[in-house]
Amino acid sequence: MSFRRPHLLGLAGLEAEEIGDLLDRADSFWEAAGTPGWRATKSPATARLSAVNLILEPSTRTRCSFEIAEQRLGIEHLSVGDERLSLIKGETLVDTGRTLRAMGVNVFIVRHPEVGAPARLSEELPGAHIVNAGDGTGEHPTQGLLDLLVLRRRWGSLGGRRIVIVGDVLHSRVARSCVHGLAALGATTVLCGPRHLQPEAGGWPGSSVAEDLDDALAGADAVMALRIQRERFTAGEALPERAAYRERFGLTMERARRLPSETLILHPGPFNRDVEIDGEVIDGGRTEVWTQVRAGVAVRMATLTALGEALEASSVETGAPAGAWARA
Ligand code: CP
Repeated sequence: MSFRRPHLLGLAGLEAEEIGDLLDRADSFWEAAGTPGWRATKSPATARLSAVNLILEPSTRTRCSFEIAEQRLGIEHLSVGDERLSLIKGETLVDTGRTLRAMGVNVFIVRHPEVGAPARLSEELPGAHIVNAGDGTGEHPTQGLLDLLVLRRRWGSLGGRRIVIVGDVLHSRVARSCVHGLAALGATTVLCGPRHLQPEAGGWPGSSVAEDLDDALAGADAVMALRIQRERFTAGEALPERAAYRERFGLTMERARRLPSETLILHPGPFNRDVEIDGEVIDGGRTEVWTQVRAGVAVRMATLTALGEALEASSVETGAPAGAWARA
């Protein structure tokens, strides 16, 4: 089954075949993702896309890789953030979206601090395609896909694999998307970290919760470290103390040395060196972190191409001009 949805809002609810289709597409862009100045041959699917990267929270990897993906696919695009938008003057997000829609923008890449903001736009902007580029503690589906891509390229298949995710899982949209994607592809996850930063046991599909990292790592096929997301803590939520956290839950050099060489080490970035992962582990070439960044370009090229094909197909089916603006 191909991915033929109008939006990519999350990995929760996607079929394994849809995820597989996006990963196959991303695989086909692997060389393009690592080649400066690569340009796609113009295709009808992407020629009529006009994208805005609406990045309303800090981002390096997601914003830049979407921009590079758009450039390499020859898609008209622009990137804007809070400081350049009239949101700051009191305009609503939906009115900002409608304004851009009236200019012919038909793809919205949306990063927003509120859970559900991209989904709201998908309901309020007829004819537009929305990609969730991270909504608060909700989901970050293209990050989840790029992690799956890295693992699938290493292993061929994810069925039966066990992945440890360690850190501030509760606030992590990356972890949520990964867990859903991994479960769909037949892998299980062990969530580990301070108890108050973990979901309820059994609350996330295919996952269990562990308190001891060293126990959890025994027999793991991969481990992903997450940063403590200070910006998402609410009043009353206790921030872990840095040194104690590193000792108990950090991917220290000592822990990395104890891992079998075939155990993969991932981190979605940005990383806080010597807190959740030692700088020495990153610099020692033992991790997948830079491969993950490259996978990010491939996955974003795949996502844009799939949405372009969905747009093309719907305009053929309905007879409407592709992405034509309709009143809400
Ligand atoms: N992993 C990730 O989303 O990184 P950015 O916040 O830099 O986009």
